[in-house]
Amino acid sequence: MGRLRLAVVNGPNLGRLGRREPAVYGQTTWPEIWAELCAAFPDIELEAFQSNHEGALIDYLEGLADRGVAGVVINPGALTHQSYALRDALAALGLPVVEVHLTNVYAREAFRARSLVAPVVWGQISGFGPLGYRLAISALAARLGGGDTGGGS
Ligand code: DQA
Repeated sequence: MGRLRLAVVNGPNLGRLGRREPAVYGQTTWPEIWAELCAAFPDIELEAFQSNHEGALIDYLEGLADRGVAGVVINPGALTHQSYALRDALAALGLPVVEVHLTNVYAREAFRARSLVAPVVWGQISGFGPLGYRLAISALAARLGGGDTGGGS
């Protein structure tokens, strides 16, 4: 059996982490977060994808199962609150999905408290900053038998 393969997907505006509203989303850039994740899970094959475009995200998700990806971590950004299309894509995926938000979406503007994707994902992590990605990968590894749950480093 090969290594567990997981996808980490970010939606609109998340490519600008570190520069985007740092008072809200923090100073850490995505390359810094990604380096930390790869170091924390050396036994898991991680791949990252970010797009500002709903259709590009859906095209990417559609191809995952064929490529042996076993689970998905996704921060859909504002599409969380708006996109029925993304929700349908996640529902059709047939893979466990963990929804991540850097901020506590329930403690902000009212529109952020509604997630269209939450009902079709395995679980949601909201409010722990970049640590949320790590927790999500750890949860998927525990479920899918990846062995390495990232506790070591
Ligand atoms: C976010 C929360 C969303 O409401 C917002 O639109 C984002 C980021 C988060 O990570 O906290 O782009 O998903």
